[in-house]
Amino acid sequence: MKFKKLAAIAATVVLATGIFAGCGSQSTSSNSSSSSSSSSSKKKVIGYAQVGAESGWRTAETASIKEIPKLDPNFDLKFSDGQQKQENQIKAIRSFIAQKVDIIALAPVVETGWDTVLKEAKDAKIPVIIVDRNVKVADESLVTAFLGSDMEEEGRRAAKLVIDHFGKDAKLNIAELQGTVGSTAMIGRQKGFNEAIKDCPNYKIVKSQTGDFTRAKGKEVMEAFLKSDGDKINVLWAHNDDMAVGAIQAIEEYGKKPGKDIFIVSVDGIKDMFQLMADGKSNGIVECNPLLGPQLLETSKQVLEGKLKYKKVISKEGVFTQEQAKAELPNRKY
Ligand code: AHR
Repeated sequence: MKFKKLAAIAATVVLATGIFAGCGSQSTSSNSSSSSSSSSSKKKVIGYAQVGAESGWRTAETASIKEIPKLDPNFDLKFSDGQQKQENQIKAIRSFIAQKVDIIALAPVVETGWDTVLKEAKDAKIPVIIVDRNVKVADESLVTAFLGSDMEEEGRRAAKLVIDHFGKDAKLNIAELQGTVGSTAMIGRQKGFNEAIKDCPNYKIVKSQTGDFTRAKGKEVMEAFLKSDGDKINVLWAHNDDMAVGAIQAIEEYGKKPGKDIFIVSVDGIKDMFQLMADGKSNGIVECNPLLGPQLLETSKQVLEGKLKYKKVISKEGVFTQEQAKAELPNRKY
């Protein structure tokens, strides 16, 4: 079968830093003295409520978002790290509303529970752009635009890597490391994968637990999987690379060979995972594009000028086998 690598969405932006404390969340502004005076500045201000810093993918996404003021000096950025907690993100949004930012951008940790605060943003006439994961709200007018990935498709692509390798009739015991429960990335990837293996009668998910998208938890949960079913598991399906990286350590410590005794597929495409693929310790990557800063800048401009082209922009992403990963490794940007 053919795999192809498609270039990630391009664009541009800029920024700097300053800190305003907020109930456990960490926020920075490109201009520390302007955190309460966006209206006095001619610059347009984007308030970004980030999920946290749970993974290599997230670090790359944060870096891309923070490029915005560099890409366009007419834009400033206020950045808040929600530390994987919805309540921190809600507080950050309220703070952005109070500061009268021009755009609120939200990468939501989970899908539900946003109706009230997004209604507050709408009442304050601040457009909201959802980035990366999605939200489920009763009133769709609360969201001006969405930029991100098709998470269900990512799950289907991961399943296809397994099916292409083993065939539909193989007998497989699959261990699943889920992402953060309730997040679009976890819900979509699980749904897409499970749908795609429906016609494989002997594929069984024998273990399934969240590793919260982190390396440490991925390792911890994989250790527990191996303790109870170590000799049974022949496939590991990890909703992101970082959990797979942790799990690979656990597999090696258990005395098995990752990538050989256990076939491994994961989502993201961070450099560490490309290296592990090149070393033969993992078997398939489904790419998820974190370089969303330029796209957010472009969409923000369109919204502010009243010329929004697309309400939904889905990133173009690729799939990599070991051989393709080896070739791609020197080109990886994150
Ligand atoms: O929402 C995107 C996911 O969030 C990435 O796949 C994962 O690494 C991150 O934590």
